[in-house]
Amino acid sequence: MHHIIDHPLIQHKLTQIRNKDTGTKEFRENVNEIAGLMAYEITRDIPVRKTETETPMMRCVTHELSRDIVLIPVLRAGLGMVDGITSLIPTAKIGHVGMYRDHKTLEPKSYYAKFPYRMKKAVVMVLDPMLATGGSASATLDKLKSEGASDLKLVCIVGAPEGLERITRDHPEVDVFLAALDKGLNEQGYIIPGLGDAGDRLFGTNDFPKQF
Ligand code: PRP
Ligand code: URA
Repeated sequence: MHHIIDHPLIQHKLTQIRNKDTGTKEFRENVNEIAGLMAYEITRDIPVRKTETETPMMRCVTHELSRDIVLIPVLRAGLGMVDGITSLIPTAKIGHVGMYRDHKTLEPKSYYAKFPYRMKKAVVMVLDPMLATGGSASATLDKLKSEGASDLKLVCIVGAPEGLERITRDHPEVDVFLAALDKGLNEQGYIIPGLGDAGDRLFGTNDFPKQF
């Protein structure tokens, strides 16, 4: 199942990151802020357990998160979403998956993986701003399943229908969260209208001096 989280604040920030004249600093800030706002919505149904707390006035029933939360940024671009979410969930554990797309075949190439220990019972959120063909996200979800993760959520900012179809086919039980579902992909596999190369824009590795 997929969910479009189109809160007005998210729409506004998405406009900033789509703009080709937005530089590295603003791009980074807006990606993190969008990720935080999305996480606020996505965690709405995360279970809590009852506990007791002594306030300065009296003892009372309170609630706390009852599940570990694990974030899995897909390198590089997923790193741009981590701070925005850990500012809301500071106890989240973080794993990393290194994945890049071969420019010719568009097939994902895996080059790194390191996971926290307790993923089996955790709510695991895979972070990547871009869902294009869906190859990188699908391969990441495969890896996480083979490590025992079962409560998986895929959190992307901009998606293409092709990528969404791929995830729905390969991982029908995984909820996909997007800020926007765009028109499609161009011949190079870039999302249209999209926002360009998210990793390059986050880390300043593109060729456009304006964006620095
Ligand atoms: C981008 C993006 C996704 C992937 C999406 O990463 O961050 O991981 O492409 O494309 P897909 O859905 O077709 O697999 P990229 O390969 O550019 O690596 P980078 O983040 O290191 O720049
Ligand atoms: N990766 C990106 O960074 N942007 C796209 O549009 C597609 C894949």
